[in-house]
Amino acid sequence: MSSAGRASGSKKPHLNLVVIGHVDHGKSTLMGRFLYEIGAVDERIIREYEEEAKKLGRETWKFAWVLDKLKEERERGLTIDLGFYKFETRKYFFTLIDAPGHRDFVKNMVTGASQADCALLVVSAKEGEYEAGISPGGQTREHAFLAKTMGVDQIMVAINKMDTVNYSQERYEEVRRGVARLLRMVGYNINKVQFVPTSAWYGDNITKRSDKTPWYKGPTLLEAFDMFEEPPRPIDKPLRIPVQDVYSIRGVGTVPVGRVETGVLKVGDVVVFMPPNVKGEVKSIETHHVRIEQAIPGDNIGFNVKGVERSALRRGYVAGHPDKPPTVAEEFVGRIFVLYHPTAIAAGYTPVLHVHTATVPVRFVAIEKKLDPRTGATVEENPSFIKQGDAAVVRFKPLKPVVIEKYSEIPQLGRFAVRDSGRTIAAGVVIDIKPMEIK
Ligand code: GTP
Ligand code: MG
Repeated sequence: MSSAGRASGSKKPHLNLVVIGHVDHGKSTLMGRFLYEIGAVDERIIREYEEEAKKLGRETWKFAWVLDKLKEERERGLTIDLGFYKFETRKYFFTLIDAPGHRDFVKNMVTGASQADCALLVVSAKEGEYEAGISPGGQTREHAFLAKTMGVDQIMVAINKMDTVNYSQERYEEVRRGVARLLRMVGYNINKVQFVPTSAWYGDNITKRSDKTPWYKGPTLLEAFDMFEEPPRPIDKPLRIPVQDVYSIRGVGTVPVGRVETGVLKVGDVVVFMPPNVKGEVKSIETHHVRIEQAIPGDNIGFNVKGVERSALRRGYVAGHPDKPPTVAEEFVGRIFVLYHPTAIAAGYTPVLHVHTATVPVRFVAIEKKLDPRTGATVEENPSFIKQGDAAVVRFKPLKPVVIEKYSEIPQLGRFAVRDSGRTIAAGVVIDIKPMEIK
């Protein structure tokens, strides 16, 4: 696996790209092929997978394995592999996050997307598949909604499996219109979204323009990636690093891993981890296996802290500087949109809160307002319940201490999702916080 980026001297700006979409729409295959075509994967490795896949009579799996094998590797957790998969385009250095489409994995998708700057939404054009993804329970809809809510402000779309519809322009237009309507509804600026007709199987419009889609005048997938804009790097804000994982490395010590959301971390800094209010000194910082003196927003890092036991830290904690420590919420007020609920939500409802890398049970203490989802205007004060499709202002109480910030101050830590029994119920932003007294 190549280690590119800042680490290897790349001066290109870095973007985290999350690949999202309904189960089986071809995310892994498409991105595996993409990485192969741009030369980010060894020919030898592809050939190995090809042999294995042939034995199973599933030759096209070789591309998906590029990503899926890596996932296994990552889960073994033997090394601190910060990057998922890395590649460079003309303009950017990308870290690729491949989100599984299955419903049970939406949780990972939430944490994956909360670290992403941009997304590729893969939508299958195949008869029945597009329709399933865009339906009310479909993940094309759910992922698009979550990506936007979790702050992924830029998105491109691959309309994949064009080979299954004879590269029909009519079908492409139908899917494009439907997905555009959805993206506009969740809040994306459609004028900046490219809809690229692709076939992951045959390699159409991925890095090379296809002669099977002469009616398509837009960019290839590779070109579309260069049309993303560089996100702002909030270095002037207080330091916030949500902890993704914690390692104990022999000869080094405790190494939390995460992405710098805001602020700057320097070697020698004292950091505090909230909610437990544990302090330590930063002895070294690493990104993609190379030591650096300071880390800025967007950097995926591991940092060695002296004076903190591995067991004192946990995924979901947030590191900051002691003079402006991360906020722990006793209660908070959020503006939410109800994506899915079989019946109705009333005060007392206690699902699970997902915010940055943390998950904790949360209670709906009071539903303060029902809003018009399109205009944000109040339509009812203190409604007794809210339903699917409603927007609302809700007072929440996390049942365990958790770090959360006002969206207006630190948007990266001010967006959240609410999930129950494996489904995303709602997502929203934090508009007010009642902080917890920290001893
Ligand atoms: P999850 O990770 O489970 O959500 O799936 P995924 O979106 O990563 O899909 P994956 O790449 O595993 O592909 C799903 C199935 O669609 C596999 O059988 C692929 O071979 C097939 N497939 C992917 N891309 C194409 C394509 O362009 N054309 C055709 N005909 N089939 C494709
Ligand atoms: Mg996949």
